Amino acid sequence: MRRILVTGATGQIGSELTPALRQRYGAEQVVAVGHRNMPTESLRSGGPYAACDARDNTALAEIVQKFNINTIYHLAALLSVAAEKDPQLAWDVNMNGLQNVLEIARSHGCGVFHPSSIAAFGPDTPPINTPQVTIQRPNTMYGISKVAAELLCDYYYTRYRVDTRGVRYPGLISHIALPGGGTTDYAVEIFYAALRKRKYTCPLKPDTRLDMMYMPDAIQAAMRIMEADSTKLLHRNAYNITAMSFSPMELAAAIKKKIPEFTINYEVDPIHQAIADSWPDNMNDSAARSQWGWASQYDLERMTSDMLARLAAKLTA
Ligand code: NAD
Ligand code: SER
Repeated sequence: MRRILVTGATGQIGSELTPALRQRYGAEQVVAVGHRNMPTESLRSGGPYAACDARDNTALAEIVQKFNINTIYHLAALLSVAAEKDPQLAWDVNMNGLQNVLEIARSHGCGVFHPSSIAAFGPDTPPINTPQVTIQRPNTMYGISKVAAELLCDYYYTRYRVDTRGVRYPGLISHIALPGGGTTDYAVEIFYAALRKRKYTCPLKPDTRLDMMYMPDAIQAAMRIMEADSTKLLHRNAYNITAMSFSPMELAAAIKKKIPEFTINYEVDPIHQAIADSWPDNMNDSAARSQWGWASQYDLERMTSDMLARLAAKLTA
């Protein structure tokens, strides 16, 4: 039986992955671990909840022992824009937090899911149909920490047989928790602005194309790879996965089809733009498709309809 711990449980992914894991494996089997953010009532009351710093070995190991954990979804991290604001903290949380989790996993026999990102690529990577295996020379602290994390997870698997697994998520779009300081946050903010004000000011140029994914697809990817046959995972810690690729101009056009009075203007932020320009336009995810059955359900049109409907219901509630 799986007994799961989720770090970063109050974040954009954790606040949806935790309930999904509780539904699949049983509420009492999934411990949500937050940090400083207040958990929502449903996260706290929907199953076991604890708070600790992911870098704190004693505190995290105690929770793992207390709940007899055998699987850790390690989501605690600083994202791209937040990391550029405080690169030293980003390295500390993203790397020392991960190493702490891997050490605890090693001594307690846990499997580990750790997400990488499109940020693990850089300006020298082929941006179109980005191959699974290619040059990775990112120039952001976030991206550097993601490449190092992919390698560290590989090392713990080959050296210690810790069952590490991971995917390279593109930008994620969702309507439960707000995103936590990334370059792709615009693709969430635009929906809130469209419903509240019918207009949005975008920090990226209109033609900045990036890989994206709707949260239900991201959740099923995290659960599916952890249930996959280990012997088939040739790229176990760093699978390219994607669902759609669009620019702000194209996203705005998709929203405009549903809200005709919606308008967008552009005030380019140099930090956001430089980061986005260094990332792929669209990744090739054929390895994930063939090795563990990855398949997305949501394209731009379907995601836009669902986001607008669900967010409208949330904002009027
Ligand atoms: P988020 O910023 O929404 O949440 C991260 C959580 O980590 C927050 O709840 C924060 O409180 C927590 N945290 C920060 N420092 C901590 C510490 N020292 N100890 C414990 N917790 C701490 O991020 P997210 O979007 O949910 O991302 C989760 C993971 O997925 C990250 O590794 C991120 O790099 C990766 N990822 C996310 C996206 C995306 O678009 N959201 C895309 C690619 C990869
Ligand atoms: N969505 C993330 C970011 O923009 C990508 O990892 O930082």
